[in-house]
Amino acid sequence: MKILTTVVEARVHRRAHRQVLVPTMGALHKAHAELIRVARQNAVPNGEVAVSVFVNPLQFEPGGDYQRYPRPEKADEEFCQNAGVDLLFLPNVAEMYAEDRSVFVEESSLSKTLEGKSRPGHFRGVCTVVAKLFNILAPDAAVFGEKDFQQLAIVCRMVRDLNFKIDIIAVPTMREEDGLACSSRNRYLNDEERKQAAILHKALQAAANAGKKSTADVVTLARNVINEAPLARIDYVELVDAKTFQPIEMVGPNSVLMLAVFFGKTRLIDNIRLG
Ligand code: PAF
Repeated sequence: MKILTTVVEARVHRRAHRQVLVPTMGALHKAHAELIRVARQNAVPNGEVAVSVFVNPLQFEPGGDYQRYPRPEKADEEFCQNAGVDLLFLPNVAEMYAEDRSVFVEESSLSKTLEGKSRPGHFRGVCTVVAKLFNILAPDAAVFGEKDFQQLAIVCRMVRDLNFKIDIIAVPTMREEDGLACSSRNRYLNDEERKQAAILHKALQAAANAGKKSTADVVTLARNVINEAPLARIDYVELVDAKTFQPIEMVGPNSVLMLAVFFGKTRLIDNIRLG
């Protein structure tokens, strides 16, 4: 596995074949292994799988968990090695951002609701860093997980609107045995919070299986299930159109139920398609 830490190295890195990139913030876990597996599948027969690990300060809101975000650098490196990654890009903050930076990439429609509303500036940070990684590594394709469903849609919109010549590959959410969506933030949860966090997927499934049609009924049902967990503090539970991320009144063929819920200081997100 080749490890690159600077933009210059990444630029001179020559490759003859297709490159598929898995952008990450590290603290790699089994959902990342799945993204890497899909990247490999997409890079066959002789393409290259690249992983970037960069905890992007721009996408953390003030008072967010940037400082405490896990950074197990050695473990991440070994993880990539064992997963058969060809190229690991590990820039530091100074490498990625000039102190007097003044250009950002901002999506101005899909990012107005849900995560964008709860975490102002988050998607501007995501779009800016993903655009930079795309320019630095120039992959042919990039892989993103559906747990961050709104992020995935916004990256697709950015690729379309800015004409990046990069295929975006979506990968279904990977879950723990009790249904909790895999996330680097799960490691913040204490034992009791971790146990109760399984309620999130149960709530989404209950809402999906109840056959209710009105948004009010679907959301109430999901909220009631979540509230059975005493440590859960709901940020939002919303039924939206999966293309526009605007609220809708009835379940339709393109609806997605999205939620963000705190357990202690840890904010978890998840979603399920309905209709
Ligand atoms: O989903 C993530 O891990 C991050 O938002 C991403 C896409 C790597 C950008 O920092």
